[in-house]
Formats: sequence, C-alpha cells, structure tokens
Amino acid sequence: MTKTILITGANRGLGLELTREFAGYGWQVLACCRNPQSTDELNELASRAGGNIRRFALEVTDADQIQRLAETLRDEKIDILLNNAGVSGPQQQDFGPIDSETWLKTFHVNTIAPMQMASAFVEQVARSRRKIIATMGSLLGSLTDNSSGGMYAYRSSKAAVHMVTKNLSIDLHSRGITAVALHPGWVRTRMGGAEAPTTARESATDLFQVLTTLTLKDTGKLWAHNGQILPW
Ligand SMILES: NC(=O)c1ccc[n+]([C@@H]2O[C@H](COP(=O)([O-])OP(=O)(O)OC[C@H]3O[C@@H](n4cnc5c(N)ncnc54)[C@H](OP(=O)(O)O)[C@@H]3O)[C@@H](O)[C@H]2O)c1
Repeated sequence: MTKTILITGANRGLGLELTREFAGYGWQVLACCRNPQSTDELNELASRAGGNIRRFALEVTDADQIQRLAETLRDEKIDILLNNAGVSGPQQQDFGPIDSETWLKTFHVNTIAPMQMASAFVEQVARSRRKIIATMGSLLGSLTDNSSGGMYAYRSSKAAVHMVTKNLSIDLHSRGITAVALHPGWVRTRMGGAEAPTTARESATDLFQVLTTLTLKDTGKLWAHNGQILPW
C-alpha cells in the first residue's frame, strides 16, 4: 500500500533532502513549495522519481491557498504531514531594537502556519495508516536548553510551535494522531550556514528513521534527528 508524506518548503535545504529520502523508499511525496515552476533541483528530482513526487504551489502564510490545497487533496490519505518550511527571522535579533514586522512574519511562517496546516489536513491524516503530524521545531526553541540568549524572534517562534505541537498531541489523541516536533540537528543549509557540522542528507536519513518508527505513545515530544527526546 502506498504511503504518503506531505512536505512544506520542499524546494531546498532539509525539505528537498527529505523529499529525496522518502521518494527513494517508494513513498508518494506531496512536495509543496512557493514556486514549483522555478525550483530546478526539485523538478529534476521529480522527473527521475517516476511519479512518486507530485509538486504543489504553497505559500504557507496564505491561509486561502492552504484551504484550496486541502480541497485539491481531499481524497488523499496523508500518513505524515511534515511542516518543514521555516525562516530564521530578522537580521538583528540580539537584545536591543528589533524589527517587529519581521518578527511577526517569523511567527506566521514558523508557528501559525503549522497549526493552519494541521487544521486543514486533519481529515486526510486521520484516515491514513500512520497518522502523524510532525513540525520542525528546534533545540533553539527549548526553554530548558537555553543558556546563551539572543535570537529572540527565532527562539520564541520555535518555543511557540513546540506548544502548538503539545496542544495538537492532546487535542488529536482521541483520533489516534501522533503530533511531534523535530530537531534536525545543526544542519548545513541556507538557514544553518556553512559552519554547520551535519549535512542535509545526513539529517534527512536520520529523520526518516525517526518519522517512520513513531507511534501514538511517542506523541507530544520534541524528537532529535538521532532519536533522542529533547527537553521542551
Ligand atoms: N538548518 C538548521 O540547522 C535547522 C536547525 C533546527 C531547525 N531547523 C528547521 O528546519 C526547517 C528547514 O530548515 P532549512 O535549514 O532547510 O532551511 P532553508 O534551507 O532556509 O529552507 C527553508 C525552506 O522553507 C521555505 N519557506 C520559507 N518561508 C516560506 C513560506 N512563507 N511559504 C512556503 N515555504 C517557505 C523555503 O522556501 P523558499 O525557497 O521559497 O524561500 C525553503 O524551502 C525550518 O523549519 C528550520 O527552522 C533547521
């Protein structure tokens, strides 16, 4: 039976590598990104994947577009809904003056959109076999782990999406849906930068293992790519 994952921000970085990883194992990938026409790497990957990768336009801050996509995909069974799209926030986010508009945009992408996606696609997830809603959080959003301060916008948006995840795990438990947040490691992408020790390929390989072994008893937790449970 075909297994299906929907991934947001699938055109580059971790989203692209996760698309490659899941398609490589024969999953159907509903690969969502802002501009499917102009994402050469994803298009090339899709053309080699023999129909496993279907591309859809999705700007995650556009609630109407989310609803339209959910309607287009109304008959799908989505085993894993993966909220991967994310932004790092304003250039300057140390203590001091901070651009509030960019901070709010960061919240929109990193915190609010995952909840809107969960709400729009809950029926497709509920009728699948695995029933997983996973969202890219971050250890930088952990209150317990924070010993260095700074990154006000990014940290607060990820701490908040951890709370969204915890809420989803409670509200959707009776429907058998597992809701988790993920920490992919410090990964060499446009967001993670060139100094990051882990490649997107390595992180995606690890995350595949985590995502494909989760069950309902694992719900409501922050999972690292290496299978560790991290403190909120
Ligand atoms: N890299 C790390 O070390 C690290 C660590 C912890 C957590 N994470 C999290 O992992 C996720 C992926 O990060 P990454 O390192 O792969 O980042 P990345 O290389 O910067 O990629 C971000 C992806 O999100 C998409 N995106 C941004 N805003 C969007 C919007 N409004 N609508 C739709 N798509 C949007 C981007 O699409 P465009 O190309 O259209 O901009 C891109 O595909 C993020 O949630 C990030 O916070 C990363």
